[in-house]
Amino acid sequence: MEQSLLTKREFLKKTAQYAAGTAVGLAGISAISGNKLFAEPTAATWPFPYVKLDSKDVMKRAHKLYYADKDCGSGAFGAIVNALQEQIGEPWTNIPIEILLYGRGGGAGWGTLCGTLNGGAALISMVTPKLDSTALINELWGWYTQEPLPSTNSNQMAIAGEFESHKFDGDLPQSISSSPLCHTSVSLWAHAANKKVGDIERKERCGRICADVAGKTVEILNAWYDKTFQQTWAVPESNKGCLACHGVSAFYDVMANMTCEQCHGADPHGTGSVKSISSDASDVIIHQNFPNPFMGSTNIKFEVNASGKTKLEIYDIQGYLVSTILDNGILERGTYETNWAGTDDNGNRVNAGIYFARLTFANTQKLIKMQVLR
Ligand code: HEC
Ligand code: HEC
Repeated sequence: MEQSLLTKREFLKKTAQYAAGTAVGLAGISAISGNKLFAEPTAATWPFPYVKLDSKDVMKRAHKLYYADKDCGSGAFGAIVNALQEQIGEPWTNIPIEILLYGRGGGAGWGTLCGTLNGGAALISMVTPKLDSTALINELWGWYTQEPLPSTNSNQMAIAGEFESHKFDGDLPQSISSSPLCHTSVSLWAHAANKKVGDIERKERCGRICADVAGKTVEILNAWYDKTFQQTWAVPESNKGCLACHGVSAFYDVMANMTCEQCHGADPHGTGSVKSISSDASDVIIHQNFPNPFMGSTNIKFEVNASGKTKLEIYDIQGYLVSTILDNGILERGTYETNWAGTDDNGNRVNAGIYFARLTFANTQKLIKMQVLR
């Protein structure tokens, strides 16, 4: 084991700190040479000890640390570490809470993981075995993505003057971020509240969320400690569909619990009005539309015999493109259908006459002829 090198002065200072916690005393000294003392580091084994904490007390500490230059990451993490230092002492005594300072602004202002979640998860990871920690972190992060924040609880604490820092004690608008990302969370709130990132209300909002997350972390850990923890968070229902192809059982090219739709939209493959009706396909085929001739709209069925980029376009008799129904959307092998309402891409009804629907898949093109009546 590596020995840490301490000056006499540092050593005396540290032993005074130890004495406040569990005593280390002289047993901790393994060698004295010259004017240096070598202290055997206390054998702090992971996971660190936890005791149940008062979540409201931790919330107040987090809010205070946030304004005491520890920001959101070290604020949430430090609030719990400081409470554990008081309750347990060693091995918590010498953890520099600043280890989470980088978490501010979603990682030094990068807008990635919310610093408070970084802090809460770090704390969970210190006190729980790996398997448990995953479930607890899922719960914390899942809650953060679905909860209107800052919580009504922290808003009320601020209004009642219960926090020690009083930069802004008014009520604050709430928003649901649907994401653990700092960027998403802050910008959705800034729009909902009509505030700028530099406004004191935004800072206070993150201060209250720092308190919320520290408090929630403690609630989750208290339940785990009591063996009453039950996971309520689940993978978003809409993700399950995406992961059926992009997850472990197929392409396995995606690793994410974040809500796919928030970034990729509801139509990530650009399939628009094209609906899958079966996974069977005999070839690249476009079937004759029905009804035909038609006045209102007509149904077009087609098949693609592999997965890939697919185009479906409507041309007039002179060869001008009238409407693009599917523009290189990605389709799986299967049979599809769509409707053409006899309109161009601006929604204007086309004149009566002959039109062609053209299916393009890989190097294959197939045409059908349709007749519009007016
Ligand atoms: C039926 C299988 C299937 C499902 C379900 C599916 N995808 Fe895909 N996805 C594909 C295929 C196939 C590709 C093309 C892969 C390639 O080009 O290598 C693709 C490509 C993508 C791409 C890249 C698009 C591009 O323009 O290159 C994104 C983004 C994507 N999928 C997101 C999603 C999301 C989000 C969902 C859930 C809403 C989802 N996919 C559901 C099969 C699927
Ligand atoms: C926070 C936003 C975000 C979320 C949430 C997200 N993605 Fe993405 N995803 C991206 C970005 C950004 C890229 C890179 C796109 C690019 O540069 O073309 C990407 C790339 C992809 C690609 C490869 C695209 C390509 O062009 O080849 C697939 C497939 C994909 N995501 C699927 C998913 C699925 C499935 C989910 C949900 C489990 C998901 N993503 C959640 C932002 C997100």
